Amino acid sequence: MMRSFGVLLTVIFVGLPDCVLSAATGSVKCKSNAADTAFLARCHNNRVQARLPPTINPDPKSSICWVPPPPGWFYGNWKMTYSSEPSYLHLHNMHSDTSPVFPQSSKLPGQNNDVVSYQIANSTTILTEHTIDTPRRSKDPSLGPEWDAVYDTVGTGNMAAVNNTWELLAWGYDTCGDGYLVIYETATPIIRSPSGLDIESRSENGPSPETLADIFVELLALNNTELSELVKGTVKQVVDGRRWGMSPVECDAHCVNNTGVSA
Ligand SMILES: *[C@@H]1O[C@H](CO)[C@@H](O)[C@H](O)[C@H]1NC(C)=O
Ligand SMILES: *[C@@H]1O[C@H](CO)[C@@H](O)[C@H](O)[C@H]1NC(C)=O
Ligand SMILES: *[C@@H]1O[C@H](CO)[C@@H](O)[C@H](O)[C@H]1NC(C)=O
Ligand SMILES: *[C@@H]1O[C@H](CO)[C@@H](O)[C@H](O)[C@H]1NC(C)=O
Repeated sequence: MMRSFGVLLTVIFVGLPDCVLSAATGSVKCKSNAADTAFLARCHNNRVQARLPPTINPDPKSSICWVPPPPGWFYGNWKMTYSSEPSYLHLHNMHSDTSPVFPQSSKLPGQNNDVVSYQIANSTTILTEHTIDTPRRSKDPSLGPEWDAVYDTVGTGNMAAVNNTWELLAWGYDTCGDGYLVIYETATPIIRSPSGLDIESRSENGPSPETLADIFVELLALNNTELSELVKGTVKQVVDGRRWGMSPVECDAHCVNNTGVSA
């Protein structure tokens, strides 16, 4: 997935000779006299760089400052620390574990296993949901790099009817050095879930207060009505230590079949 670092580099040099992508930091620096100043004014280094979800605004210009994470950056364990999804409020100590599907499909490269796990109130039992994420650009190779880090996710087994799309809006390291990601999820009509905003972190505490504030400022600055409403509806999730000392989730055949999930 997101093997398009090189592609993006080319596009920036060809389309915007006044912008330079730093391979070391992954950030884009643009001269102030470059074209499209309205968009370029929003490019900055060492701070949260957010884009609109491509499904809301597929104009490549709107994500001109945006660089996708390097391949594999998503893999591993993430904590759901803030979300606007009403249904997530009941899913405590929620984690997401992402790993490459093995073997990889040659037709749909970049597919990931996506295991969400959580506890419900007053229980220590860990419940899981398994889905497969497919990069939108693998499904439709005609799409440009502005569609990087957009995944169509489909449940497996009992959850085969559940699908939606998630789109990375921002990613990086907070002021404490912990990785974070900001995700827009499209609505999931079959389970009556509205579209939502999620902020996941490598840390149970979520992004540092400075970075969290910056994330909200940058999302609001995108000036999109739907996204701004989601920002206002984003709340801290229940993280209360009930998973401390527990081993990481192993997704066995029951987990892949979503045997315990009724959907
Ligand atoms: C969890 O326990 C608390 C305190 O005993 C109780 O008030 C609450 O109703 C319980 N919640 C659920 C979902 O069982
Ligand atoms: C979910 O699946 C349905 C049926 O295959 C499809 O029409 C729809 O576009 C999918 N939605 C997303 C968000 O991928
Ligand atoms: C935000 O968008 C509205 C229309 O949706 C527009 O009238 C307004 O000028 C925009 N504000 C900024 C700061 O871009
Ligand atoms: C998972 O689903 C497959 C295909 O339906 C089935 O063959 C297998 O027995 C299931 N395994 C478990 C543990 O539920």
